[in-house]
Amino acid sequence: MSDDQTRVQEFFTARAADWDSRFPDDGPAYAAAVAELGLRAGDRVLDAGCGTGRALPPLRAAVGPSGVVVGADLTPAMLREAVRAGRDRDGALLLTDVAALPLRSGALDAVFGAGLISHLPSPAGNLRELARVVRPGGVLALFHPIGRAALAARHGRALTPDDLRAEPNLRPLLTRSGWRMTSYVDEDTRFLALAVREG
Ligand SMILES: C[S@@+](CC[C@H](N)C(=O)[O-])C[C@H]1O[C@@H](n2cnc3c(N)ncnc32)[C@H](O)[C@@H]1O
Repeated sequence: MSDDQTRVQEFFTARAADWDSRFPDDGPAYAAAVAELGLRAGDRVLDAGCGTGRALPPLRAAVGPSGVVVGADLTPAMLREAVRAGRDRDGALLLTDVAALPLRSGALDAVFGAGLISHLPSPAGNLRELARVVRPGGVLALFHPIGRAALAARHGRALTPDDLRAEPNLRPLLTRSGWRMTSYVDEDTRFLALAVREG
């Protein structure tokens, strides 16, 4: 286990038990973000850094019973909460680092990542690994149910120009990682960047 992985696990293990009750009203925002992926019945989709699995029910609804939904997370305590909430009924849960996914190249149609990117130790390499498992033309959604400025205010910090999720930083980062950014929204009530896997 690397220091980065230990840090992530400690941080989220401490927050797992009350993760869902801290943000009880986010469901519709997750459903709306999932809708923007344009999934079809039978598609295969990964929720990267799925945590307690809040996105798994709308992802399952989008791909239907013939689709494949996988939730991957590094923190066992978050996955335990996902099981406790019954979300393992909507997708298979994998305890894994998204930096090295046990999935075949091009196996998926889409990746959804909520609240993930700011926790990645090597964003370019980690986004490249997400690109590896998605077929050319497949899609990526990087989502947060609160915008960058509102999140910074919640944490009592200022937004700085080096913020990974700022559009001038995120666009070239995605390009370097095998993705082409197709839309970017950063408003108080949501952050959502969409990208397409380059061929
Ligand atoms: C902010 S939480 C978001 C959880 C969930 N996506 C949601 O929106 O409620 C970030 C999650 O990403 C997971 N995570 C962070 N780095 C990861 C990595 N390298 N591989 C897999 N999961 C990771 C954490 O364990 C945590 O559950």
